[in-house]
Amino acid sequence: MTENFSEIINEETASQKLLQWSGEYERTCGHKPLALIHSYGCQQNVSDGEKIKGMLSKVGYEFTSDVNEAQLILYNTCAVRENAEDKVFGKLGDLKHLKENNPELIIGICGCMAQQKHVAEKIKKTYRQVDLVFGTFAYNDMYNMLWEIISKHDRIFNLSENHVDINEDFLQLRDDKIRAFVPIMYGCNNFCTYCIVPYVRGRERSRKPESVIAEVRALVKNGYKEITLLGQNVNSYSYGFPELLRELDKIEGDFRIRFMSSHPKDASHELIDAILECKKVCKHLHLPVQAGSDRILKLMNRRYTTADYLKIIDYARSKDPEFSFTTDLIVGFPSETYEEFCETKELIKKVKYDNIYSFVYSRRSGTKAAEMEDHISDKQKGLWLRELLLEQREVSTAWLSRFVGRTVTVLPTGEGRTGADYLTGKSDEDMIVEVKADKKYIGKFIQVRITKAMNWALRGELVEDK
Ligand code: SAM
Ligand code: SF4
Ligand code: F3S
Repeated sequence: MTENFSEIINEETASQKLLQWSGEYERTCGHKPLALIHSYGCQQNVSDGEKIKGMLSKVGYEFTSDVNEAQLILYNTCAVRENAEDKVFGKLGDLKHLKENNPELIIGICGCMAQQKHVAEKIKKTYRQVDLVFGTFAYNDMYNMLWEIISKHDRIFNLSENHVDINEDFLQLRDDKIRAFVPIMYGCNNFCTYCIVPYVRGRERSRKPESVIAEVRALVKNGYKEITLLGQNVNSYSYGFPELLRELDKIEGDFRIRFMSSHPKDASHELIDAILECKKVCKHLHLPVQAGSDRILKLMNRRYTTADYLKIIDYARSKDPEFSFTTDLIVGFPSETYEEFCETKELIKKVKYDNIYSFVYSRRSGTKAAEMEDHISDKQKGLWLRELLLEQREVSTAWLSRFVGRTVTVLPTGEGRTGADYLTGKSDEDMIVEVKADKKYIGKFIQVRITKAMNWALRGELVEDK
């Protein structure tokens, strides 16, 4: 079993050997080796998955979504909540018989879940069908690891935590031809007490503005219409986030810019001003508040109070009374009382979010909150979550009606849920919009007059080509 790869062979040799191997494979089997790469979790992980695909395509792999025809199955995993991890363990269990029938099949997991020692240990002992486990710092070693497995049939566990320099010279294979994710920074320094991300993704590293700008420019040139800038807290981007937005706004072309996430402790008036003043930046802010009680926010180490948070909301709404906010919320944090949970309900009524992403607290081993006494049963947490969603449904039904009669810009990305002739897309405000329109409008900005507000989406009619 190999634990250290840097000495094995240098990266160039490994990629050449893989290329030779894949050529040989194609001559023998009549097709290139196929890889199934599936990313779980957040957009950052999806973006990493696109880089992995880029690396694999350089050494001759093509891609499939069918486990039965893959020679390499790699799950790029998420560790943010227990159910995300359970899903992956279930999938790995399902693959056992495939490996028994085809010992040459390589099964691997990578990403956030794989970065945790206890997960690697569990896989080492219990999931013998898995050949490859590597965390979020080891992508650059991928050719070495693969070649080691193919040539020696070793099992590899690479949990290196070496912070490598950001590699700007990568090829990304994006499945989506309309929307693209562009990471501007990696890692997180915030250590919210419930969250595993800083442990599995390391400290913050920002990409240089010139390489972000060059990437966005190239994407726009290639026809991408929506660019989402990614970071766990874009407001601590080392080179200034509002400035980056203003620079990207100057790029010519028919496209729009989104970003996520913003930590409220660092959200500034400059950020709101930049959103409102930049033409291409969507008029929407995802501002995760997590809880409505100051005691819980303190225990979460969020470093703001609800009053601080509401000041940002008030500033934006003083400039645009209908400014769109969305948020993330956690219910059932250790020691939260029902009264404190009700403060979260009060907060969502006060802010009036277009949408909330709410989660039941999940204990993550290694975090500070994991050591706090968690007296709330899962059943109770589930009930609170339901209660919160019902509250939000009421809020959004009333608040979303402000869109009725308004004309919004929508980027249709596929067929709608409403009916066969409908397309679905998002407005600048990040609202799902269903519109009766021809498929030729997919990937093109259209103007839609909103006729109906449902609690999950808006419905409207096509006005004209933009
Ligand atoms: N960096 C982002 C921020 O601070 O807004 C959030 C990134 S995190 C991957 C996405 C969301 O997952 C968080 O905003 C939080 O609501 C939720 N989350 C994180 N850890 C959690 C846990 N242990 N249990 C439940 N939800 C959790
Ligand atoms: Fe997790 Fe907090 Fe970092 Fe977001 S800011 S990734 S919630 S530690
Ligand atoms: Fe993202 Fe999950 Fe990792 S939310 S950063 S993939 S823990």
